[in-house]
Amino acid sequence: MDYPPNKLLMLPGPTNVPDRVRHAMIRSMVNHRSETFTRVLRSVTDKSRPLFQTERDPLVLTASGTGGVEAAVWNIVRPGDRVVVPVAGEFGSRLAEVIELAGAETTRVTSEPGTVPSLESVEEAVRKVRGLKAVYVVHNETSAGTNVPYIERLAKAAADAGAFFVVDAISSLGGYALPVDRWGIDICVTGSQKCLAAPPGLALLSVSKKAADFIKGNPPRVRYFDLGRQIDFLAHGETPFTPAIPLYYALDEALSWLIEEGLEVRVERHARHAKSLYSLLGAMGVRLLADERVRSNTVVAGYYPQGVDDKVFRQKLNDEQDIVIGAGVGNLKGKVFRVGCMGDISASHVNRTAAAMALTFQKMGYPVDLKAVSAVLAS
Ligand SMILES: Cc1ncc(COP(=O)(O)O)c(C=O)c1O
Repeated sequence: MDYPPNKLLMLPGPTNVPDRVRHAMIRSMVNHRSETFTRVLRSVTDKSRPLFQTERDPLVLTASGTGGVEAAVWNIVRPGDRVVVPVAGEFGSRLAEVIELAGAETTRVTSEPGTVPSLESVEEAVRKVRGLKAVYVVHNETSAGTNVPYIERLAKAAADAGAFFVVDAISSLGGYALPVDRWGIDICVTGSQKCLAAPPGLALLSVSKKAADFIKGNPPRVRYFDLGRQIDFLAHGETPFTPAIPLYYALDEALSWLIEEGLEVRVERHARHAKSLYSLLGAMGVRLLADERVRSNTVVAGYYPQGVDDKVFRQKLNDEQDIVIGAGVGNLKGKVFRVGCMGDISASHVNRTAAAMALTFQKMGYPVDLKAVSAVLAS
């Protein structure tokens, strides 16, 4: 097949994979029941601990983020359970749907696109639901570019109610810090293809002792995603089933880079570049989707100016500028664009994308104040 030239991936995942991470995948295949693979697995496990800021061993599943979310649901939720789910967009809805598929009754606390449910409204639901089993929340709503700023306090509310607390941090962990042990997050899920700048295909999960004990005592009715089995195998340096070995090589290298950079520095880097992208879009006169108080540092979403067609705009960016940005999803399809600000994100990525977007808006008949954009670029 004919591959197009390399594109700058400014998607909310998958993100650009640095050469050192990509090259790590060409190592030879090994027996996954061998000492060599055990060493790879142990290395990935050790290097994942600082990401989650946990003393426990995080799990790595050969699955996309959704597989990690399904595992986090099917291992905790049982038919008839009651679960509270704040829903700020498409991924919150999908999470609630999976929980309902597992047989639970959900109380959804919803908010308008671009906002997140208030902490008070979620806390009230947590207090009101009798016999609450768990609170599940999407930390960073990738469909809207919003971020829930009260994870620590919600963890406390869930603990006070005697409930498990589970976080989908697929588009945020690494771009934000979530110290799972300190905050009391029972399961935290992320994906390899977002802030970690690794290829897609692996889901990483931290599992608290409380959650692990529950799972061991109440095995889920699933096999591949049985986290108790995953924990038992990891204890002797294996995965229960054949892992995507080259992706483990890549993740190991991606985590090495994270450790060299330092989590704090990486979080600050994401925040700095997101801020700059918001300013540049503001200078173009773009109406941003997210309310300023909950704007995400990893996904930047804005409404298309009137008359700018989503498909044509993204196609022109792709064909003429070699830059790929994300479309709207769910109800926002066609109305908004989403730019990923994750992983390998740098000033050159942000400036190149903003300049290309300004030029493309101009070409499509939406006048941009290029002086205002230049002033932000120069600031
Ligand atoms: C918050 C969130 N949850 C879940 C998913 C699903 O992840 P995947 O597409 O890797 O299955 C995504 C993907 O963008 C996401 O952003």
